[in-house]
Amino acid sequence: MEYITDKIIFPNKILLDSIVIPIYETYKFSKITKKINQISNNYILNILKENNIQGKINQSIILYNIPNVLCKKILIIGCGIQNKLNRNKNKLIVCNTINILKKSSFKEINWYLTDLKINNLDLYWNIRDTIDIIEHNIYKYNRFKKNKTYFKTKIKFIITNTNDNIYHTAIKHSKAINLGIKKAKDLANLPPNICTPKYLSKKAKKLTTKYKNISVKIINIKNIKKIGMNAYLAVSKGSKNKPFISIIKYQNNNKSQPIVLLGKGITFDSGGLSLKPSTNMGEMKYDMCGAAAVYGTIHTIAELKLPINIIAILAGCENMPDSNAYRPGDIIKTLSGITVEITNTDAEGRLILCDILTYIEKYNPKYVIDIATLTGACVIALGNNISGLMANNKILSNKIIKASLETDDRVWELPIDDISYFNQLKSNFADLINSSSGIAGAITAACFLSKFTKKYNWAHIDIAGTAWYYINNKAIASGRPINMLSQFLINQTQI
Ligand code: BES
Ligand code: MG
Ligand code: ZN
Repeated sequence: MEYITDKIIFPNKILLDSIVIPIYETYKFSKITKKINQISNNYILNILKENNIQGKINQSIILYNIPNVLCKKILIIGCGIQNKLNRNKNKLIVCNTINILKKSSFKEINWYLTDLKINNLDLYWNIRDTIDIIEHNIYKYNRFKKNKTYFKTKIKFIITNTNDNIYHTAIKHSKAINLGIKKAKDLANLPPNICTPKYLSKKAKKLTTKYKNISVKIINIKNIKKIGMNAYLAVSKGSKNKPFISIIKYQNNNKSQPIVLLGKGITFDSGGLSLKPSTNMGEMKYDMCGAAAVYGTIHTIAELKLPINIIAILAGCENMPDSNAYRPGDIIKTLSGITVEITNTDAEGRLILCDILTYIEKYNPKYVIDIATLTGACVIALGNNISGLMANNKILSNKIIKASLETDDRVWELPIDDISYFNQLKSNFADLINSSSGIAGAITAACFLSKFTKKYNWAHIDIAGTAWYYINNKAIASGRPINMLSQFLINQTQI
């Protein structure tokens, strides 16, 4: 979708195809609606009254051929009680508007809704939210469909505010972020017979042709062995699809320490020999959503040319059962030297991540953030709209929380500093077990990772509940938490 801005204040001079304007409860008009009502000699008010459209959220009407108004169609959207408009209601209003436009055949719509006054939300964030909701609602995954359908209406934001800089910055940021989200969704929605670890590495390589600040290094199985990432290797052993680690370097700052973003990229998680039940096993193609989020975020950063250094890692691997697969009972020496007794081959995410968390020490990172669909326990704890956040540094976790509140891409911090969690990871034979039984599963997984992150500031984001959502009871990737991550990085450049 392209977003244009224009300064037409009142549509009575130029011929427009269509406009969308607000109405508040009860029959209260905004400036623009009032003006159009005046020009049309109360035509608007009369029709609204006739149809009992008082301005409640969910109410709407399309009017054609309005007297004295040079505009073919006017969509009037109910916005509820004027001074009670908040962020969630505004999102609902944008959502309703897009759903109506989806069913209409408008070529272009002049959008007068970014002007709404919303409690505790300024114009910049109103525009950011608006574009996020529009993009979220019009996203379609057409690649494997015979009949491909697209949302065709062009949207033109009408600048009624004096400061048009805000519009342009907000649109610039939102466009880059939503491009990243789309790239991540398109990658994550691919079936696991196409999106293999090798495919992930090819997508990473391709970034270098598009962005000049990006270079990519691929670590293949030979080098994974050579480096000594035995935990990573163990997980990959049951699959004929070999592991590939993509190291994407974005460099646009001479001085600063890099920020490492590490994404779990299990392209299919069958559970391995600790096989998962077959119900919904297909959803485990989404076990690479952490890697997809990192891949998407790097697009956003490169589009915005943010003056920072990022090392973005896609940890590609497949977890399958096979005679060659790693087993429960195996003991593995990780790259760090810490030994791990495998108690469950389905707790594979932490095994591929722990070796990379050791490997990246050499970059002397300022912050390390890993993003992973790590535990079903996180879904039980926080549900489908809030990602889990666990960190070894308060400054970093607070920055992440700030970005999450700003973008409404929510996270909730869980504690990882209690000895009782670590006690659950004790093994009779090795330094750690990979899977503790039962309680606080999201936290114990993070505690496992924290054993490998002692040398830097680290945060872990468990997106098991938020990486995908359901349309008609069927899963589709969400692109989360790209909005939050991008905002965190934008904020990094503004201090
Ligand atoms: N990829 C899964 C976690 C997951 C489950 C993500 C459901 C999204 C939805 C992870 O590899 C896994 O299998 N975790 C196990 C850990 C357990 C064996 C300690 C789990 O959560 O059951
Ligand atoms: Mg698993
Ligand atoms: Zn997994």
